[in-house]
Amino acid sequence: MEMARIGATPAGGCNRQALTDEDRQGRKLFESWCAAQNCTIEHDQMGNIFARREGAEPGLPPVLVGSHLDTQPTGGKFDGVYGVLAGLEVIESLNEHRIRTDHPIEVVVWTNEEGARFSPAMIGSGVFAGTFELEYGLSRVSRNGATLGSELERIGYAGSRPCHHYPIKAAFEAHIEQGPILEDQGIQIGIVTGVQGMRWYDLELIGEAVHAGPTPMTSRRDPVRAMHTIMAQVYKWADDFSPWARVTFGDARFEPGSRNTVPERVIVTLDIRHPDETTLAAMEDRLQEIVSTAATESNITGIVHREWQSAAIQFDDRCIRMIAESATDLGFSTMHLVSGAGHDSVYVSKIAPTAMIFVPCKGGVSHNESESAERNDLAAGCDVLLNAVLRMAGCAAQDQTTSN
Ligand code: HGY
Ligand code: MN
Ligand code: MN
Repeated sequence: MEMARIGATPAGGCNRQALTDEDRQGRKLFESWCAAQNCTIEHDQMGNIFARREGAEPGLPPVLVGSHLDTQPTGGKFDGVYGVLAGLEVIESLNEHRIRTDHPIEVVVWTNEEGARFSPAMIGSGVFAGTFELEYGLSRVSRNGATLGSELERIGYAGSRPCHHYPIKAAFEAHIEQGPILEDQGIQIGIVTGVQGMRWYDLELIGEAVHAGPTPMTSRRDPVRAMHTIMAQVYKWADDFSPWARVTFGDARFEPGSRNTVPERVIVTLDIRHPDETTLAAMEDRLQEIVSTAATESNITGIVHREWQSAAIQFDDRCIRMIAESATDLGFSTMHLVSGAGHDSVYVSKIAPTAMIFVPCKGGVSHNESESAERNDLAAGCDVLLNAVLRMAGCAAQDQTTSN
């Protein structure tokens, strides 16, 4: 709740977009809490934060827990933040119970997970995992023309530590589900086995700017008319790939954007997702056909720019099992599920055994200012995270009791 006061919106949500002053404030608050738990704190070249608690055996690879603190423009209090603070809660509980794990533990805050201010999403973890080059990550430009690298400098998070992966024992991420499945089924803990495939596009439609008054409808080369056809067909096409296909037109820009000039150019963003990579590829083929047919009909030029692609991934069986055992031992109801949302764990799973823990959120609603979750569900997720970490990190020391 204290973190949610930073970037708080009048409707009760959070606007703490990546590398804004609000994000900086949130990062500093988090670091003050980590310092109070005697963690050492490092920043890498992409501004990822690593808060480390040493283990009993120096040199052993760490167990990572963490998520992100940046939010959507009208985001909620829990997306990302929960996973970061659940990781900190693990550290606090270990300190409280004087438990020394064999492996060190690092709570990580990944930069620009949302992809709202800088596209694509999950770019801090993506550079760390080697999926993106550092130069690409730093060069990403926000709508107001700022580069990710210049914003890192501006808020003082252009770290010196190389943004590159190192040996990691395992990684766990706790997150609200951001969908309705757990709440509908009355389940407390989601054991996340993987993440569906995601692709982001910019559809560029180029026509001709003409006067809104004298120009006959028949002689216009109106990109909005093509957009209308494309949107209708893409929504229908999603029905053909139901129930798992997801299509989202999140933003559209008309240029020059004057109400009495037919736009010359329209840029529409499209986010498509599906658990099966082959189906996703088939959806992309159909998209190309839809755009070129609509462009021809409206006598304009239509270009599909693929901005980002994240293939469907499977998490690590052993990590999944440790989450399942922890949740069952603690007496929580569980179910296995695939994540509909993208997470930093997608990229972390490329360089370390990884899995995720979901807890329900109210009405399955997220990326919305009303996002909320129940305290006991959040606590349950923390307990499962703590016990999965204990299983993976090993317990060297005296006090073997786990948290409440
Ligand atoms: O797009 C996603 O699924 C995530 O919120 N970045
Ligand atoms: Mn998230
Ligand atoms: Mn999100």
